[in-house]
Amino acid sequence: MNKQFPATVVWGSATSSYQIEGGWNADGKGPSIWDVFCMIPGKVQDNDNGNVACDHYHRFREDVALMKSLGLKAYRFSISWPRVLPAGQGAVNQAGIDFYNALIDALLEADIEPWVTLYHWDLPAALEFEMDGWLGEEISDAFAAYADVCFRHFGDRVKNWITINEAWVVAILGYGHGVFAPGKKSKDLPYRAGHNLIKAHAKAVDVYRKKYQPEQGGKIGITNNCDWREPLTDSPADRAAAERALEFFLAWFADPIYKGDYPACMKERLGERLPAFTPEEQELIRGSSDFFGLNHYTTMYAADATHGSDGGSVYGNGGLSEDQDVNLSISPDWAMTDMQWAIVPWGCRKLLEWIAARYDNPPVYITENGCAFDQTPIDGQVDDRDRIAFFEGYLAAVHEAIEHGVNMKGYFIWSLLDNFEWASGYSKKFGITHVEAGTLNRVPKASALWYREVILKNGL
Ligand code: GAL
Repeated sequence: MNKQFPATVVWGSATSSYQIEGGWNADGKGPSIWDVFCMIPGKVQDNDNGNVACDHYHRFREDVALMKSLGLKAYRFSISWPRVLPAGQGAVNQAGIDFYNALIDALLEADIEPWVTLYHWDLPAALEFEMDGWLGEEISDAFAAYADVCFRHFGDRVKNWITINEAWVVAILGYGHGVFAPGKKSKDLPYRAGHNLIKAHAKAVDVYRKKYQPEQGGKIGITNNCDWREPLTDSPADRAAAERALEFFLAWFADPIYKGDYPACMKERLGERLPAFTPEEQELIRGSSDFFGLNHYTTMYAADATHGSDGGSVYGNGGLSEDQDVNLSISPDWAMTDMQWAIVPWGCRKLLEWIAARYDNPPVYITENGCAFDQTPIDGQVDDRDRIAFFEGYLAAVHEAIEHGVNMKGYFIWSLLDNFEWASGYSKKFGITHVEAGTLNRVPKASALWYREVILKNGL
């Protein structure tokens, strides 16, 4: 590849608490909505769960050693809210604080910069019962109070904070399609949940900025996810459809943060179904991210469906398709990952450029990009050429975006470890993992070798 990236770009890898930690009820941890969701038969493929996962809670030192052996410089992980606050609010679980302190110290000792996500979907189950989860009026204050606990305990050493991972997934998959915890199916609830997620983010940032940032000096932002939507044809209707799809996907969350309100097209189409921010809330939300966190995996074509939508699929769809009047499709020429996500590096470049144009060229961190391939280790080795090709393609696209003026600051590969892939479980079927829970990260990992092969070999 041999592309020269700016020396300031941060290169790292990412995981999340529920997907790797295990120790689901260890040492005083409270249950999360994912612990509970996995107990319901049929919700997760093979009825898998994160009870053990990579057993990172017990074996994090080995994992940090693995990161060090790979030469990793930055590591993004998430804190399990119910491990720190078992009931979601009130009493702190000291063992949870001790665990994250030990992890952070081990990372710093290994010269790896911690990037910490406060919410990667494992809401304390208590708050689901007591506050109706992300639908409740009080949830944003509860999140800010939890964030305060984290800043207070960890902020002396953690200088990079991400409030919420992928509010779109929480809202659409958790409250629209109901395929992720808490499993609600509705046309209206996603917009209510999304509203509270944005408020929660802004309130946590306000706590950080007022109480901690002046002294601790870190940065804080949110990570949203978005695929690229390419107009199927050059017709004005398809071009408008692609734009609309991006607005319902990414601008839903990014516009309030960068512009102070939801995109006009969402307000027009949703009317009363989209809650409104008060002027005070707008004030708090506008400008509430020090950087633009982006998770990006794939691209689809978008076509106008004003005269009848085909419904779209759960994962490929940009949301509730009937609200958008967009039909999505893929090209049969595109190669696919084993998650059935099309590999389209130029979509990544176009999305980065779209973000730069719409939000006045903010500093962007790709906080997740990656792929799943079925490569069974043979004699302790993985023939990882598909993954290497994937990363070379996407990194070349990121490089082009930088050449076109995009303010790219960092890139984190999903994932460091083979892990629990939410409703897909361990998905041996699609080659996301090859081994049982508990031994996941103790085989030579396809998902880790990228770092040596791509980043280090190219001298990044
Ligand atoms: C993202 C999510 C990660 C992981 C990834 C796909 O949406 O943040 O937790 O599941 O997709 O493997």
